[in-house]
Amino acid sequence: MKNLTPDRTTLDPIEIASRDEIEALQLKRMQWSLAHAYANVPHYRTAFDSAGVHPDDLKSLADLAKFPFTTKQDLRDNYPFGMFAVPRNQVARIHASSGTTGQPTVVGYTENDLKHWGTVVARSLRAAGMQPGDLLHNAYGYGLFTGGLGIHLGADALGLTTIPISGGMTPRQVRLITDFQPKGITVTPSYALSILDEYNVQGIDPRDSSLQVGIFGAEPWTNAMRREIEDAFDMHAVDIYGLSEVIGPGVSMECVETKDGLHIWEDHFFPEIINPETGASVADGELGELVFTSLTKEAFPIIRYRTRDLTRLLPGTARSMRRMEKVTGRSDDMIILRGVNVFPTQIEEAIMATPGLAPHFQIELTRPERMDQMRVLCEAADSSADRDAAGQALAAQIKQTIGISVRVDVAKVGGVARSEGKAVRILDRRDR
Ligand code: DLL
Repeated sequence: MKNLTPDRTTLDPIEIASRDEIEALQLKRMQWSLAHAYANVPHYRTAFDSAGVHPDDLKSLADLAKFPFTTKQDLRDNYPFGMFAVPRNQVARIHASSGTTGQPTVVGYTENDLKHWGTVVARSLRAAGMQPGDLLHNAYGYGLFTGGLGIHLGADALGLTTIPISGGMTPRQVRLITDFQPKGITVTPSYALSILDEYNVQGIDPRDSSLQVGIFGAEPWTNAMRREIEDAFDMHAVDIYGLSEVIGPGVSMECVETKDGLHIWEDHFFPEIINPETGASVADGELGELVFTSLTKEAFPIIRYRTRDLTRLLPGTARSMRRMEKVTGRSDDMIILRGVNVFPTQIEEAIMATPGLAPHFQIELTRPERMDQMRVLCEAADSSADRDAAGQALAAQIKQTIGISVRVDVAKVGGVARSEGKAVRILDRRDR
């Protein structure tokens, strides 16, 4: 793999500023953001008033803990535009989350917000090793989902040549990578695996592709998956994180030179970790639920938003800004099986550690009697693999590492549903 470490002189100065400088900027911006939300969004005014706090009470960053949380339910209650802090005609762009778990969540951006979004995504792409003039194959979906257009905005800001291919039509993805010779690809890790399959179908060695870096996000993925993808394509694989409610992709990004978790662009998004049960803030280094406060957003300021993503905060390394560890999963996706907490990422790790299996999988939950049961549906790595033996090995691996008994079914090659965006990992067939 090529060394893609960016030249430090090309970074935004704030990325490597002193902590004092970063925190002073955060405090100033946080005061603005709270006042802006309070003055312009009825929901925040009511919520702050009932908590007995006022934006003027924020004298230090620690004072943020006095302010109320914002949840997905608050956004739903204010559907579609009730959380906007500027008149509708000053909103330059609208995106929405898929709404698989209910009503879609609608978010808006002013021209300034789009500029800031471009800045943080450009920073992220640069941290992955992309430089002005490089070619980027952007296979995140375009549309209401923030992935495609968000990455595109940052690619424009950085001065890349963007191929806005979006997701789907997998044979064409391989064809255009082969013909156009991009240096980078932006895509969900699960769709990258579908593209990898297509290389094999077409009889092309992915290691011969022009790709030097893959920028993967929008869903959890493990370090075991990183090794698998890096090896298959002979390229770097780095993690990009974000969520629509906070801005979209580009909230945090892993640096290609360290690959040690994701640096949060703290000049725009202030992170906290809380205990998901009690709501109490926990210290850096401790695992909990990630909470974000936007510091610069005009159209859709977001104050102490509970992401439900589980991670921990760590000090900066390649940049001065704090890192978040790779997300283990969402609290919503945590399965409690006979008293044991299980995340799909743990099943992914077990699959990657089992010979003879491909990295595609789904988890089916049923409740035949009163006990929940888990079935892991995975797939043979190739037609010569002994599927029964691989299935038994996986069940043993899961029992040993996670401590639960599951049924494993190993399908033939191609037997597990493929993703063109975010993978659907859990099929919940329990009667409620
Ligand atoms: O997925 C934004 C995005 C697009 C990020 C492209 C990165 C690349 P939403 O559709 O609103 O936005 O979904 C946000 O996806 O709360 C996490 O649960 C999950 N997620 C996003 N990135 C990662 C990641 C986009 N790198 C939700 N690792 C978030 C783990 C991620 N989970």
